[in-house]
Amino acid sequence: MVTETKVIPVTRSSMPPFDEYVDTIRQLWDTRWLTNAGTMHEDLTSKLKSYLNVGNFLLFANGHLALELAIQALELKGEVITTPFTFASTTQAIVRRGLTPVFCDIDPIRFTIDPDKAEALITEKTSAIVAVHVYGIPCDTSAIEEIAKRRNLKVIYDAAHMFGAVWQGKNIAQYGDLSMFSFHATKVFHTIEGGGLAFSDNSLYEKLRHARDFGLCPGGFDADEIGTNAKLSEFHAAMGLCNLEHIDEEIKKRKAVSETYDKRLRGVYGLQLFPEIEGLTRNYSYYPVVFHEEFGKTRDEIADELLRRGIRVRKYFYPLTSAFSCYQNRLTPKETPIAANIAGRALCLPLFADMTEENVNTVCDELLNLKGFD
Ligand SMILES: Cc1ncc(COP(=O)(O)O)c(C=O)c1O
Repeated sequence: MVTETKVIPVTRSSMPPFDEYVDTIRQLWDTRWLTNAGTMHEDLTSKLKSYLNVGNFLLFANGHLALELAIQALELKGEVITTPFTFASTTQAIVRRGLTPVFCDIDPIRFTIDPDKAEALITEKTSAIVAVHVYGIPCDTSAIEEIAKRRNLKVIYDAAHMFGAVWQGKNIAQYGDLSMFSFHATKVFHTIEGGGLAFSDNSLYEKLRHARDFGLCPGGFDADEIGTNAKLSEFHAAMGLCNLEHIDEEIKKRKAVSETYDKRLRGVYGLQLFPEIEGLTRNYSYYPVVFHEEFGKTRDEIADELLRRGIRVRKYFYPLTSAFSCYQNRLTPKETPIAANIAGRALCLPLFADMTEENVNTVCDELLNLKGFD
């Protein structure tokens, strides 16, 4: 048995210095304005809008509700083309909004939707492409947006993994009709729970703001949208304000951890690492590895052994969302052989800002020992 002190977690939330958070929330004991677009909420909204360099930005209680409301605001109907190689949220949001997810296979290097295959899935019922920037790897945005424009489809990016990344000279938030971010506690930037939508179309702004607050319009009597409660509290916004002060440092520390992994794992036969992508300034959100046949051990064998040794790796994403039991007898997913293959081989190694070099080396030592050499 591994003692808890020896455990290496797969992730560990970054937190600002305690006093910074306490100083920020102190004013709430005077104002007693704890939620409903308080001053910290508004301050964080405007800071994130500048950071992401977008025309419009709204905060939400979490990324999932932001995604559901994005689908609602764009008035999507029928089918949407999406990836099964994602976290539950992407597909659940589509289905919960009454749409049919049409699963598209992925690119074996980027793990994101393969645009050529996406185009072949378009029917007269298709209203949008909901693509995911997996692990901090951008989708082929030019190809996706070219298809969408030509076929008159909307594009939503699930950018839950992507905060802080710059792609082809623009912040990643500037792509598509809408980009959704998750500010969950495990993310590169977080508000404990939280999420955001970035978009350029001003006409969506009031719709989304109302839908986030029970659909109520100003005055609070009438509701002009079918809304929910997706408001972010002042305590969450305060955490965001503090964390945003440290975002560059956060990404720098994660980069150092990733580079230590790279030094040990680059060139290992049978191991596929994060791809080199020209034009990407990374956010180092995850350290995925894919175990190919040549490695000599399967992903499941490696994962079981590492877990036994107290190294908390994660089969992310497994299974494909298209295989979820809640969709049995509801959906007839198309075959996505590349996604199925990657889902059976991918593993996220532990990565967080204050992970020590010693811990990274322990993970690499154990992993390489399991292969049979060091
Ligand atoms: C790809 C992806 N989409 C959506 C979400 C949902 O975000 P949240 O947890 O903020 O609701 C997550 C969360 O981890 C995610 O990884």
